[in-house]
Amino acid sequence: MAAGVGARVVLDGAAANPLRQGLDSNRITDPCTIVFFGASGDLMTRMLMPAMWNLRLGDILPTKFGIVGFSRSEFSDDEFRTDMKSSVDQFSRSGPAKDPLWSEFAGRLSYISGDFDDPKAFKKLRAHLDANDKKLGTAGNRLFYLSTPPPVFGKIVQQLSAAGLGPKDQAHGWTRIVIEKPFGTDLDSARALQAEVTKVFDEKQVYRIDHYLGKEPVQDIMALRFANVIFEPIWDRRYIDCVQITAAETVGVEQRGGYYENAGALRDMIQNHVINLMALVAMEPPISPSADHIRDEKHKVLSAVRPITADDVRKMTARGQYDAGSIEGKPVPAYRAEPNVDSHSNTETFACVKFLIDNWRWADVPFYLRSGKRLGRKYSEIAVTFRQIPHRIFGEAGDAIETNTLVMKIQPEEGVSLRFNAKIPGPKMHIRSVTMDFNYGTGFGVVSAPAYERLIGDAMRGDATLFTRWDAVESAWEIVMPILQNWKGTPAGDFPNYAAGSQGPASAEALLAADGREWRRI
Ligand code: BG6
Repeated sequence: MAAGVGARVVLDGAAANPLRQGLDSNRITDPCTIVFFGASGDLMTRMLMPAMWNLRLGDILPTKFGIVGFSRSEFSDDEFRTDMKSSVDQFSRSGPAKDPLWSEFAGRLSYISGDFDDPKAFKKLRAHLDANDKKLGTAGNRLFYLSTPPPVFGKIVQQLSAAGLGPKDQAHGWTRIVIEKPFGTDLDSARALQAEVTKVFDEKQVYRIDHYLGKEPVQDIMALRFANVIFEPIWDRRYIDCVQITAAETVGVEQRGGYYENAGALRDMIQNHVINLMALVAMEPPISPSADHIRDEKHKVLSAVRPITADDVRKMTARGQYDAGSIEGKPVPAYRAEPNVDSHSNTETFACVKFLIDNWRWADVPFYLRSGKRLGRKYSEIAVTFRQIPHRIFGEAGDAIETNTLVMKIQPEEGVSLRFNAKIPGPKMHIRSVTMDFNYGTGFGVVSAPAYERLIGDAMRGDATLFTRWDAVESAWEIVMPILQNWKGTPAGDFPNYAAGSQGPASAEALLAADGREWRRI
């Protein structure tokens, strides 16, 4: 089907293909306007506008909607539309935008230029939104999306309130705010930002984005655990030996050296994405799928993570920084030679941590988390390794009886695989490990929607399940603070300590070797 009005690029063909049964359109019913602060930024170009366009193509946007871009750059409405068209043409998963649908969509786009702390610009925004409500029928419902540099998050919230755009100022309709990561740069700044936000918004109106939670295989973790009877009975210290969570990237810091120098891998990836994955694997079964029941359990398990003391940082963590090397056969520079990076930088581009969770389910089961840039492969997974069999009766001399491993594959492959032992065909009882694989693409016959599509749609719908509640953000900062402080106070003497394109630093291997274990290969 051509991408015309009402076309469903994602859902097309459900009747003809039994694999697609149960996939259905999920149109948002409330009319609304979404305001993107930071509309001239990279995230808007690569992710947010293509996501909005695909929500329209999938018939998911409400029939009455408006999109307002707000940022410092000077653009007319038409220039903004042209810019957004090229972003869609370049980055949309459905290919270049086509008329007549694009023209109809573009007619709902408009732009306000202004500083994030300029009261006049916010007054202008308010008048514009009121006019939009009349013109587009958006009924006073507003979603403010903060995709700006994090230092201005608090200012925008203050200005919204001062301009009478806060939820309490509204005579009708709803107001919600979506806040990009990072929510703070440490525990204190996160608490300060939270204090600013709660002056204006209630927790239920705040949607803190962690785009990993919108990835289809990440949502599947809960389905795997709580929609099947076979995993949960063995999901504890009696059967599980350890959990390894990896988020490996091949990209370097690209043009983000300025931001990354003050962030590092622990803040950029572990504090949010990777810790959130750990929470999904480790939490207790929620009593319902409601946003608060799920988030109660996530917070509970994060509160049970054993604090890493200053003395333990050396034993429980490892850090690295990439040197020059090669990625997919192409030479790439060292981190210290990247734009806007200090030539003696102490910033880690690789972090790994061993966490223990002090509760009955997990006592003594290590959770090993790692994330790094410029590694050998872009690959994210959660691997749950089970204990050894208690008594061996099969296998000829020399056969290794591997432990069972359940792998939740997040990207680029999406699915689940189970490694178990089987008999090698032949007269002898030789044993070898084999893999049973489920792959999302072939299992359901659809390509998963990018995380931002799912998350923006959920925020417009008022479903906060896949967004991080403040208590979990605070716990995650509490968990990483001792490591951040220790690393800051003790510059790594061995940076750069891993070649681009490798498995990461030797210290990460040593951390697991000290426990008699090995990392899975990236
Ligand atoms: C972002 C980080 O949150 O996640 C980036 O700031 C990182 O540094 C990105 O590259 C990784 O996301 P994904 O979806 O490509 O794994």
